[in-house]
Amino acid sequence: MYAISSGAIVGIGIAAAVVLAALVVVVTARRSDVRGAGALSRETKSRDKATTSTAAAPITGREVERAARGGSVATIVETAPVVWTAPDAEQIGVTRRHFLNVSAITLMTASIGGFGAACIAFLWPSGSGGFGGKVPIGKVEDVIAVIKQGNGFGYFPNARAWVTQYPSSALPKARKVYAQPVLNGMESGLAVLWQKCPHLGCRVPSCPSSQWFECPCHGSQYNRVGEKKGGPAPRGMDRFGVEVNNGTVVVNTGLQLNGPSIGTNTTGQEAEGPHCIGAEGGKH
Ligand code: FES
Repeated sequence: MYAISSGAIVGIGIAAAVVLAALVVVVTARRSDVRGAGALSRETKSRDKATTSTAAAPITGREVERAARGGSVATIVETAPVVWTAPDAEQIGVTRRHFLNVSAITLMTASIGGFGAACIAFLWPSGSGGFGGKVPIGKVEDVIAVIKQGNGFGYFPNARAWVTQYPSSALPKARKVYAQPVLNGMESGLAVLWQKCPHLGCRVPSCPSSQWFECPCHGSQYNRVGEKKGGPAPRGMDRFGVEVNNGTVVVNTGLQLNGPSIGTNTTGQEAEGPHCIGAEGGKH
C-alpha cells in the first residue's frame, strides 16, 4: 500500500543498530560481572594501596650504623597495624547491578523508542506536498493546458493521479453519483483519478486512440473520466478528494474514494478509436 522511502529504510536501520548496540553492551557488562567474581574490587585495591603508603618506611642497616657513629640510635616506633575492614560486598554488588540494570533499561527504552518513531514516521501520511497529503497541481487553466498537451490526459506524478476534462453537460448526472470532494473537481471541469487499477493495483495507462484508460494487466477498461467499460475490475477508477482554492487545484491524496459502481456512465463517452488492449476492447 505504501512505498518504502529511503528515509524510512535508513531510520529502521538506525533503530536496528541501536538495538544491536544495546545487546552488545548488556552482554559485555554481564561478562565483566562474571569475570570479576573472584577478583579484587577496585575499592579493595585502592584501600590496599593507601594502607601500604601510610605504613612506616623500613630503616636500613646503613642508617642504623650512621646513627651509632653519631651516638644516637634511632628508635623504631612500633605502630599499630591498620585494621583492614572488608568492603561491604553486598553494597558494592547492589550498586554495580543497579547501574547495569539502569543502563540496560535506558538503552533498551531508547532503542525501542527509536524503532517505534521510525515506524510511525514511515506510516504517517505527510501533511502536504507529497503523496498521502494535499498536493497542489496548479491553476485550473494550467492543468487543462497539461491535459491538452497530453492528448486528453494529464498525468501528475506527485499526486499519482490522472486528470482529464469533465464536461459541464454531465454535471447533473454526476451530482447523483459522486461525493462532494470528487464533485469539487468536476465542477471546475476536472476528473481527478487515482492511477491505480481497482482490480489488482496495476498503474493504468491512457489509450490515446480509444481515449479511454486501458489496463495492460488484465484488460480492464474505463472511459476518459474513469467509469468502468469492461474487464474484471469491480468498479470504476478510484478518485481523490479535490479542493479548488483561489483557482489552484489541490489533490487530497489522503482522501481516497472508491470509483463508481459498474454501469455508471455519466458522460456517455464511447471509444473514439482502436483499443490499446485486446481486439475486442478487453471486454469480459
Ligand atoms: S490490475 Fe488492472 S485489470 Fe487487473
